[in-house]
Amino acid sequence: MKILVLHGANLNMLGLREPNIYGSNTLKEINDRLTQDAIELGVSLSFLQSNHEGVLIDAIHAAFQVQQGILINPGAFTHTSVAIRDAIASVNIPTVEVHLSNIHKREEFRQHSFIAPIAIGQISGFGAESYRLGLRALVAHLKPII
Ligand code: DQA
Repeated sequence: MKILVLHGANLNMLGLREPNIYGSNTLKEINDRLTQDAIELGVSLSFLQSNHEGVLIDAIHAAFQVQQGILINPGAFTHTSVAIRDAIASVNIPTVEVHLSNIHKREEFRQHSFIAPIAIGQISGFGAESYRLGLRALVAHLKPII
């Protein structure tokens, strides 16, 4: 089972960027931890980070009939991108949205997600653990054991 892990705008700056909000882990550390989890879960991951909406959209289109799930932290595109939402809806691949910070207790403009209505669910506020929880939730959705 193949899962595409997408990181949106500014997430390449993790570790340096507002560590009081986003923690001190780098994106590489997060991806490495997910890779370890994936072995245990029996799934194969591909990773992409981009600061460009169109690059993320192209990757979502390329996932059609190739990847069985998408784990995405769209970064600020969460709150702006109808186009990423439409891309996910168009490929109809089960998607889990994750955020390091709890977007619901931050500025009002961060409290709305264009992605959430077409996602299986959203995990927000657990720092780097949000990705790990999100991956488990996605795999549990794709391969239910109960
Ligand atoms: C974020 C939350 C967004 O509001 C912000 O623009 C980000 C990171 C998070 O993971 O907490 O870039 O998606």
